[in-house]
Amino acid sequence: MKNVATVILAAGKGTRLKSGLHKVLHPVAGRAMILHLIDEAAQLQPEKTVVIVGEYRDQVQDALGGQVEYAVQEPQLGTGHAVQQASGALNGFEGDVLILYGDVPFVKAETMRSMLDRLHAADAPAVVVLGFRPPDTLRYGRVIADKFGRIEKMVEHKDANEAERACTLCNSGVMAVKGSELFELLARVGNTNAQGEYYLTDIVNLAAADGRNSAVVECEDHREVTGVNSRAELAAAEREWQEFKRAEVMDGGATLKAPETVFFSWDTEIGEDVTIEQNVVFGPGAKVANGATIRAFSHLEGATVGEGCEVGPFARLRPGAVMEKGAKVGNFVEMKKAVLGEGAKANHLTYLGDATVGAGANIGAGTITCNYDGYFKHKTEIGERAFIGSNSALIAPVRIGADAIVAAGSAVSRDVADGEMRMVRAEQLVKPGWADRFHDAMKRKKEAAKRGGE
Ligand code: UD1
Ligand code: MG
Repeated sequence: MKNVATVILAAGKGTRLKSGLHKVLHPVAGRAMILHLIDEAAQLQPEKTVVIVGEYRDQVQDALGGQVEYAVQEPQLGTGHAVQQASGALNGFEGDVLILYGDVPFVKAETMRSMLDRLHAADAPAVVVLGFRPPDTLRYGRVIADKFGRIEKMVEHKDANEAERACTLCNSGVMAVKGSELFELLARVGNTNAQGEYYLTDIVNLAAADGRNSAVVECEDHREVTGVNSRAELAAAEREWQEFKRAEVMDGGATLKAPETVFFSWDTEIGEDVTIEQNVVFGPGAKVANGATIRAFSHLEGATVGEGCEVGPFARLRPGAVMEKGAKVGNFVEMKKAVLGEGAKANHLTYLGDATVGAGANIGAGTITCNYDGYFKHKTEIGERAFIGSNSALIAPVRIGADAIVAAGSAVSRDVADGEMRMVRAEQLVKPGWADRFHDAMKRKKEAAKRGGE
């Protein structure tokens, strides 16, 4: 395959979103939408990636850093004008140019490849356009093509007549053009149209006037090329991404009890024979190994769940939570920067922060690792097979030895040796019959008070 360069349009901040954040930085599945696109396009190993920036460009450059090149478009005079700004960065580039829109973030690498293949087919089209048929053609530009996919005309919704608006084949915005031809075509694009803009789509019409063919490749699944221009479309993009991911996770061998209630992050990794119950949410950085069960209403972020582990219902695993093989975390348990060793259990109402728990340990209901003194965080180490009684406070830094027992209700602030039993609670006061005597005396008093009042 020829060398490829990608040009990603992101100069318009997205007025319809009414946001202080640039449109392409709005997250879908926890990740800026433009990063979804750059990552996918990376599979083509582009020689160059040029991002066209304009409004809020500091935000875009801060988010993407040095992994791409930038060309500034100021002012924004249309999509054709935007691509023109890449001419400096692509000076002398003879390969294929793939034009992508930062607000059309879910185009698959496979689709991009098929467009580049089409560009080099025997009929040598000047431009290859990615078309699609959305359920609602909305404001999309139309691709007027014959049944062989040869394009007769590209027309924007605002410029289209009734017959053209009736055409259901729409422009996704994605295009492939040879680097050697792109800028000559762009130089001839004018702005006499409904919006007074330099339309990228006009390069197709200009090539046609020169007697050159252009071709449309039709994208089977319209969801792949949905544009995001409003908050409602952003919500729809999130919904569609989640649908894709749920299908992928189930194809990978996981059971989702109610797929529509499970929300993944862009990087969630789920193994085989994992069961995920209803209403589970994954933040970024979560991995779940084979055979684990995530029960209803759990929230996992930056967490690693080992093979055969059980989580929840109602568990919260925060960044740095690691559960080793067969470990169990039950309801209302929170873990943060904590390792729960193989087969260890924290079944109820517990906070484990900045802690390591050895294999086979049992953390009783209501155990809290007190890891923060208001200024610094401190570590709690719990040895293998240790037994922590219910409602214990482990005041870090502290170490509980292997096989040790901490009695229920203890507030432990000094290390416990291996095999030791530690009880930290007040001596018990035992008064047999005291309660009976108390009740008798009080009842008599109350009777006397009633009689006095009559
Ligand atoms: C564009 C297409 C339309 C297509 C639709 C698909 C044109 C003329 N129209 O319309 O045919 O159906 O996308 O979603 O190409 N941008 C710049 N500089 C500019 C203008 C836009 O960088 O001067 C960027 C925007 O930031 C955005 C992308 O180009 O990422 C598309 O611009 P937008 O204004 O959303 O175009 P649409 O009206 O959606
Ligand atoms: Mg758009």
